[in-house]
Amino acid sequence: MTKHVTLTQFIIEQQRELPGVSGTFTSLLNDVVTACKKISHLVNRGNLIGVLGSADSENVQGEVQKKLDIITNDIMVDALNWTGHLAGMASEEIDDIIPIPSQYPKGKYLALFDPLDGSSNIDVNLAVGTIFSILRCCEGVDPALEDFLRKGSEQVCAGFVLYGPSTMMVLTTGHGVNGFTLDQDIGEFILTHPNMTIPNDTHEFAINMSNQRFWEPPVRRYIDECLLGTEGVRGKDFNMRWIASMVAEVYRILTRGGVFMYPYDLRDPSRAGKLRIMYEANPMAFIIEQAGGACSTGRERILDIKPKGLHQRVPVILGSKNEVERIVGYHLEGDLQAKD
Ligand code: AHG
Ligand code: MN
Ligand code: MN
Repeated sequence: MTKHVTLTQFIIEQQRELPGVSGTFTSLLNDVVTACKKISHLVNRGNLIGVLGSADSENVQGEVQKKLDIITNDIMVDALNWTGHLAGMASEEIDDIIPIPSQYPKGKYLALFDPLDGSSNIDVNLAVGTIFSILRCCEGVDPALEDFLRKGSEQVCAGFVLYGPSTMMVLTTGHGVNGFTLDQDIGEFILTHPNMTIPNDTHEFAINMSNQRFWEPPVRRYIDECLLGTEGVRGKDFNMRWIASMVAEVYRILTRGGVFMYPYDLRDPSRAGKLRIMYEANPMAFIIEQAGGACSTGRERILDIKPKGLHQRVPVILGSKNEVERIVGYHLEGDLQAKD
């Protein structure tokens, strides 16, 4: 009989190799896993239990919330706030820091999450996900905003769960990237994709082409060259995908390479990008880099940015290293020419 490695077993064994690590982190991860299993179940049940559709409310970023945006946020908060592992939380769906209720002990970690990523896909039965990021904090205190606003390079763990044909968890603690598939029969995530790595080269890109007229010249140049295929400077044909769900795009890139972009665009010049640094860009950048890929705004490595606000947005260009470096190079060339 094949011997399966569960997520818990994997983490405990990985932690044993790190000096001075307690079991707290493993327990915290189990809390996240419990929440994501509940979300997986709800997403799967869909309209049988009436959870689809709009909630007729807006979040802090002025986006119309789906019922499931709110329900999944509550599931994450309820699974994480009482266990004593966290000092505080922050969510894409909530304006301010989410404190730990006073009746519960406080731990030494902070959790940040996008409870339902790609929520525009939920009513059309396409892939959605949950993204999370874990930071270390001072133990037993009420964290201040500044404790959350840390560079992505300081994350101790990042992961996402993709609710697709299979429910998958992808995880990094800074020692590579591993993928686990939820075995619905036994309710456990099983290691199915050890040591995920991204090929350096690709011929597949993902970008919302409907925003083309708003892009900056370096992004236009890159996509124009891809579209010219064998007739242009790239000398090869490219394929395009757009799932409108970052979790699904990143999962595809981890599996077969590619480049994903939600770049800066001129639709609303005051908005630096669409994706949020704390809940989307940072955790995905940590995962992508750990898998051998790269992640940049076009002008700066995402993990080096010092965030200024919980809900700050950033341009995101991530995936196969050589492609991301090419696009960063185009930004550099463009900026130098603009100075001359
Ligand atoms: P969310 O559902 O958490 O707001 O995130 C959606 C994000 C991301 O997952 C996806 O890549 C992008 O928004 C899709 O944007 P478009 O609607 O412009 O395609
Ligand atoms: Mn999202
Ligand atoms: Mn979301």
